[in-house]
Amino acid sequence: MQNLTPPRETLDPIEIASVDEIRGLQLERLQWSLRHAYDAVPHYRKAFEAAEVHPDDLRSLDDLARFPFTAKQDLRDNYPFGMLAVPQEQVARVHASSGTTGKPTVVAYTAADLDVWASVVARSLRASGVRPGMKVHVAYGYGLFTGGLGAHYGAERLGCTVIPVSGGMTERQIQLIVDFAPEAILVTPSYMLALIDEMREQGVDPAATSLQVGVFGAEPWTDAVRREVEDTCDMHAVDIYGLSEVIGPGVANECVETKDGLHVWEDHFYPEVIDPVTGKVLPDGEEGELVFTSLTKQAMPIVRYRTRDLTRLLPGTARSMRRIEKITGRSDDMIILRGVNLFPSQVEELLLDVPGLAPHFECVLSRPERMDQLTVRVEARDGELTATDERERAAATLRERVKARIGVSVGVEVVDPAAITRSIGKARRVRDLREPR
Ligand code: DLL
Repeated sequence: MQNLTPPRETLDPIEIASVDEIRGLQLERLQWSLRHAYDAVPHYRKAFEAAEVHPDDLRSLDDLARFPFTAKQDLRDNYPFGMLAVPQEQVARVHASSGTTGKPTVVAYTAADLDVWASVVARSLRASGVRPGMKVHVAYGYGLFTGGLGAHYGAERLGCTVIPVSGGMTERQIQLIVDFAPEAILVTPSYMLALIDEMREQGVDPAATSLQVGVFGAEPWTDAVRREVEDTCDMHAVDIYGLSEVIGPGVANECVETKDGLHVWEDHFYPEVIDPVTGKVLPDGEEGELVFTSLTKQAMPIVRYRTRDLTRLLPGTARSMRRIEKITGRSDDMIILRGVNLFPSQVEELLLDVPGLAPHFECVLSRPERMDQLTVRVEARDGELTATDERERAAATLRERVKARIGVSVGVEVVDPAAITRSIGKARRVRDLREPR
């Protein structure tokens, strides 16, 4: 793999400013942002009043803990434009995220917000090892989803040549990679795995393509998948995080030189980690639910938004800003199986250590005889584990490792290559077939 560490002089000065300087800037911006939300959005005025706090009460960053949380439901209750803090004529663009149920969540941007967004995505891509002048294949979906357009404008801002492919038409994706020779690819990690399979299908050696770096996000993925992609494609695999409610992709990103968690772009997004049950702010280093407050957003300021993502805050390394640990999952994706908590990402990590098993899997929940049961359906790698007894041995190995590491008995079914439906965006890892009790 090539050394893609960005030269220090190309970083934004704030990325390597002192922690004191960053805290000072955050306090100033947070005071503005809370005031802006309170003045312009009836929902925030009411919520602050109910919690008996006023923007003037924020004298230090710790005072933020007194302000109320915002949940996805608050955005739904104000569907579509009730959370806007500027007149609609000043809104340059909207995006929306479709939840699993109900109405989508709508988010909005002024021209200045779009400018900030492009700059944080450009910063993220630079941290990932993308350089001005590189050709960038964008396979995140374009449309209401923030992935495609967010990545697109960030890559343009960095000075790249953007190839706006969007998701889908997998065969053509490979043709474009071969013909246009991009150095970077921006895509969900699960779709990258599908692209690798398609390359093999077409007789293209994944290690021989022009790709030097992949910037993967929008869903959880593990270090085991990182190793898989880096080894097969001879390219860097770097993690990008974000969510529509906060801006889209570009809230936090790994640095290619360390790959040790994602630096939060704290000059625009203020992170906290809370105990998901009590709502208490946890000290840095402790695991809990990630919460964000926007510091500069005009069209839709967001105050203490509960992401449901579980992680820890860690000190900066390659940059001065704090890091979040790679996200293992959302509290919504957590499976509670006979009292034991389990995330699909834990299964992913374990199954990739079993020879012959491919990174394509799903967790199926059922309730035979009124007992919850989890069956991991995982594909054999192409040309491997062809005999029934080989499959049974691999299944037994995975079952034992899940039992030993996670502490719960699960079923494992090794299925044929390509038996599991591929996603072209975020993978759906859990299928729940249980009848409501
Ligand atoms: O997924 C924004 C995005 C697009 C991020 C492209 C990165 C790349 P939403 O559709 O609103 O926005 O979904 C946000 O996706 O709360 C996490 O649960 C999950 N997520 C996003 N990035 C990561 C990541 C986009 N790197 C939700 N690791 C978030 C784990 C991620 N989960």
